[in-house]
Amino acid sequence: MFNPKSYLKKHLLAFIKNNLSSNNELQSDRETAVVERTLSMVRSEYTVMPRFGFHQPLDYYLDTLPVKFETPFKVEGEELPVPAPEDRMGYCPDDASEYLKWGLYDKNLIKSLVDRELAQDDSLNILDFGCSSGRVLRHFYSEAKNKNWKLSGVDIQARPIQWMREFMPSDFCVYTGSTLPTLPFPDNHFDVIYGFSIFTHIKFHWDMWLLELKRILKPGGLLIQTIHTENAWKYYYDNRDESWVINNHSAAMLQSREMIYDYFYYGDMSVSQVFWRREIAKKYWERYFTVIDVLQPPERSFQDWMVCRKA
Ligand SMILES: C[S@@+](CC[C@H](N)C(=O)[O-])C[C@H]1O[C@@H](n2cnc3c(N)ncnc32)[C@H](O)[C@@H]1O
Repeated sequence: MFNPKSYLKKHLLAFIKNNLSSNNELQSDRETAVVERTLSMVRSEYTVMPRFGFHQPLDYYLDTLPVKFETPFKVEGEELPVPAPEDRMGYCPDDASEYLKWGLYDKNLIKSLVDRELAQDDSLNILDFGCSSGRVLRHFYSEAKNKNWKLSGVDIQARPIQWMREFMPSDFCVYTGSTLPTLPFPDNHFDVIYGFSIFTHIKFHWDMWLLELKRILKPGGLLIQTIHTENAWKYYYDNRDESWVINNHSAAMLQSREMIYDYFYYGDMSVSQVFWRREIAKKYWERYFTVIDVLQPPERSFQDWMVCRKA
């Protein structure tokens, strides 16, 4: 994880010592760039992203210019543009059709739960909590057109939301949120709120988030969220030699295949990893919702699903 203090020490102080001329002018574009970058990193840590309430803006420079997105892909048979690899936010960067398939698979899981749990499927108002660049939400476009569904999405990262704003039809009501547990929707507004791998990252205020999502759900509405349980714990343990596991997890949790704690919260800000034992997740979430199911991870995933209803 980036450490602004050591960055500052290493680059800025050395730079000042070695490079500033007696009249304190920066000597070259490169020197100016080093200072600019350092200051932007310091701002990112200490101003725009304080520990408990932040979002990730488009950048941390004083002048923020329009993002130069890579041209989205056109995929045969797909009506909507597909984000270029770097805008898929880690999901199948090398394979656009796999990206679409995976999103559709996840959408179908949500849709089957909606069909099972709600009496009607016309004119539903749904929110993708942590929608990123719309990997799953995009697949509800057919419901928006044919069944008058209203589609909303929120994410704390400005860039994927900007991507949506720039390339997706205006039927997608998307906006940048923050880690403060508040959303700009009225009470009793949504029929369904779903989220893929969001509560796996919400270490701070997860309980306030549940209450905020409850507030904006209609009575009888569904909350469907993936979580990490002992299943994910085992999955990470089994992959403990992979760099993507080592770099993002506590060494303490990679010691044993069994999850011996009731819960385990690791990390800071967006790298946080949150684990609850299945029965503990049910017990805790039941304080706020009726927990209909804690589903085992579906085929393509290692995350369990909380399926809840607002009474
Ligand atoms: C692992 S990614 C999953 C993205 C997307 N749900 C998907 O399945 O493609 C987690 C996402 O949650 C977002 N996120 C984390 N905390 C959030 C919060 N409190 N509110 C909204 N989005 C959040 C992150 O910015 C990130 O885009």
